[in-house]
Amino acid sequence: MVTHLYPEERRSATVLFADVQGFTGLAEQLDYETVSDLIKDIWSRLDAVIEDAGGYIDKHMGDGVMAVWGAPYASDRDAEKAVHAALALIESLNDYARKSKIHDTEKLNLRVGVNSGEVFAGYVGTKNEYTVIGDTVNVAARLEQAAEPGTTIVGEATGQLIRNIFEIKELSPIQAKGKTEPIKAYKIIGTRSSASKITYESLDKLETHMVGRDNEMSRLRIFFEQSLTSIIPTLILVTGEVGIGKSRLLMEFSQKLQLDYPDAQVVTTRALAQTSRVPYHIWRLILFRRFGLLEDALNEQNRRAFEQEINLLWNERSSGTAAAEVVYVMGRLIGFDFKQDERNLRHANTVEEEFDNISDLTRELLYRLSLKGPLVILIDDLQWADKESLNLLYSLVKPGIEPLPIMILGGTRLILLKDYPQWWGASHITTLGPVAMNAAMVAKAYPDLKSLPDHILEELASRAEGNPYFMEEIVKGLVRSGLDEIKATPDETISRIQSQIPESLRAMLQARLDNLTRESRTVALMASVVGRVFWVGALKVIARANTGTGTLTVMPEQVIDRLLQDGLRQLVRAEMAFPRAGSKFSDQQEYIFKNSYLRDVAYSMIPHRSRTTYHRVVAEWLSKFEGTSYKVMAAEHFEKSGEFSSAADQYEKALEMANTRRSLGEIEILKSRTQAARDAGTKAKENG
Ligand SMILES: Nc1ncnc2c1ncn2[C@@H]1O[C@H](COP(=O)(O)OP(=O)(O)OP(=O)(O)O)[C@@H](O)[C@H]1O
Ligand SMILES: [Mg+2]
Repeated sequence: MVTHLYPEERRSATVLFADVQGFTGLAEQLDYETVSDLIKDIWSRLDAVIEDAGGYIDKHMGDGVMAVWGAPYASDRDAEKAVHAALALIESLNDYARKSKIHDTEKLNLRVGVNSGEVFAGYVGTKNEYTVIGDTVNVAARLEQAAEPGTTIVGEATGQLIRNIFEIKELSPIQAKGKTEPIKAYKIIGTRSSASKITYESLDKLETHMVGRDNEMSRLRIFFEQSLTSIIPTLILVTGEVGIGKSRLLMEFSQKLQLDYPDAQVVTTRALAQTSRVPYHIWRLILFRRFGLLEDALNEQNRRAFEQEINLLWNERSSGTAAAEVVYVMGRLIGFDFKQDERNLRHANTVEEEFDNISDLTRELLYRLSLKGPLVILIDDLQWADKESLNLLYSLVKPGIEPLPIMILGGTRLILLKDYPQWWGASHITTLGPVAMNAAMVAKAYPDLKSLPDHILEELASRAEGNPYFMEEIVKGLVRSGLDEIKATPDETISRIQSQIPESLRAMLQARLDNLTRESRTVALMASVVGRVFWVGALKVIARANTGTGTLTVMPEQVIDRLLQDGLRQLVRAEMAFPRAGSKFSDQQEYIFKNSYLRDVAYSMIPHRSRTTYHRVVAEWLSKFEGTSYKVMAAEHFEKSGEFSSAADQYEKALEMANTRRSLGEIEILKSRTQAARDAGTKAKENG
């Protein structure tokens, strides 16, 4: 048995093809050795760009490369990273061509195609190398061929995933071999400029209203009103799981505040994952915003503007610190260059001293600003803030000698409080729970859907399980296919809502599963076969039958048990599954996946050939238990493993029990299910 480095899975991934144009022309004019060096040189640069952007280099073919994001492991925002890489690749080659001494390299150009969707990731082909295959890959290659030199074209799913970050332009659909329908394509124009403003993910065209957060809004309002008469800073953290609506609440609150309190100074900003290691990045952004500076304009003119603002502030009342020193310390923090005139200024001797100095000056600066009107600083995604910014923030909210009447409102995922437990004591924490949705609220949140029948809206509400992000992703998918279509085919719509997973959601949940250890992820995948609710006993039989992916094979029973328990513990710690009290099977610990999408995504990752086996062993395990519901569950698992006559046998046993109980409705359903299973068995036999 080979144990592979990576598991074989069906995954959601983003695939990039890039091809260098113009090598052939160059090769005709140059010596072979020069060409060979040139090619090596270029690819070592381009490969580095891909790897820096988190991509997996799948293979080089001719003058091109194929790279993957989302396999072997997914991360947050793979599609975004792939498109960033595409732009960086083009830029890197252009840069090379400009600087190269070799004649005519400026004729070299890169074409890039990017596409997202389901792939099979595994060991394929005669060389048995890890790669991804499938339609998603073929389309990415086709998009690359269709791109003009020096440009990037992305497919439909990628376009949907990145449109909040990149400017895109729809192209006329592209014909592809082996596809009846032409494929939708978008050209990447560039990055949108608003990336560091607080945003909530939303398709620009879809009108949405915030619902079910009245209590939280008034709570924030009360904190604000209290802060108006307080002389100490108020720090409020809005926390909650991914997509629960933290950013949206912050946005709505800040808009309301600016309407109701025109003299309030509301400064909004957000941390980004890619700047989480840039010291003081958040404070840099805050100062930029407050003083109306542009992020990419650290020029002399802006420096003077900043200096002037500080001088004005410091002239208003006396201070122990000279304005020039504030300009110097805070200006350097922002990134201004002060090489010429730093001679007369004090220098910190240690890192601690420097930090204390920055903290004191920030405090005084904010205090002086607060005299001009209520000062409210909003910082979203604090979980991604750099350490120095967090420490500075923390040092400000500690009670000080000087008064500091400001309100700071942070949005953060729960992880921040796990990493910095001391924040619990320093702040008011508002944890957002699920939004209790019903049909009327769905209609209110999405006016476009108002005309849809109630039972469809109800289905949407129940599928989203109180998570507005889930909700919005499902709605986007629906709206895209057209409301008339939905009204004409309500039954299909319902089953689509029940069975399909929007691509963005799938990518996000897959990334969360990938954050687990391999054992724990294997446990999650095995558990997903059992269902939203699963039992340790069922996991054991799957683990024993698990010969495909290699992690848990050929191991003594106790080792398997230990791995399962470890894996389960981690799933629980990651809040992806929870143990349930009072299991149906007396000696079987019962667990439940946090939400049904998580279960569905885990399930979708299992290769089809393994699924069949897993379902069979679960069916056999379940069939040993008495009680109608186990018989029915067993039958359903047999059906999924294609063993229809065993399924029929289980339905029949359930039928006998229902007969004894004279439960008429049940009898009728079970009879037809038995018959259906028998028929399916006969048909399967006929088809060989
Ligand atoms: N109460 C609500 N009513 C309607 N839509 C909402 C509500 N809350 C959030 N949304 C929408 O749901 C989506 C996810 O919300 P949001 O981006 O605020 O989540 P988040 O908690 O900030 O997630 P993350 O942890 O990823 O930052 C957004 O499109 C947002 O507009
Ligand atoms: Mg957010």
